[in-house]
Amino acid sequence: MNCKVIDIHSQLAHINFMIHCICNNINTAKVDAAAANGAETAACVQRACGTKFNCGQCRVDIDARLRAWRIANPALEAAE
Ligand code: FES
Repeated sequence: MNCKVIDIHSQLAHINFMIHCICNNINTAKVDAAAANGAETAACVQRACGTKFNCGQCRVDIDARLRAWRIANPALEAAE
């Protein structure tokens, strides 16, 4: 059997706008702003936006965006 692993999360770094949390209307700009202010987890992003998880379906996606942000902004990450 020929299995391939597809890394979809690294591709998120190239997306400049999308809604990450439908329940709370948290988009890429909001996640990136929270990351720039030190958010390290999806829960931190929810708090930074003044919201709470509802369904929680966004948790993995927001965490992936945070990882992508940290890779794209290593100097800012190191400054913290
Ligand atoms: S999509 Fe974020 S809490 Fe539902």
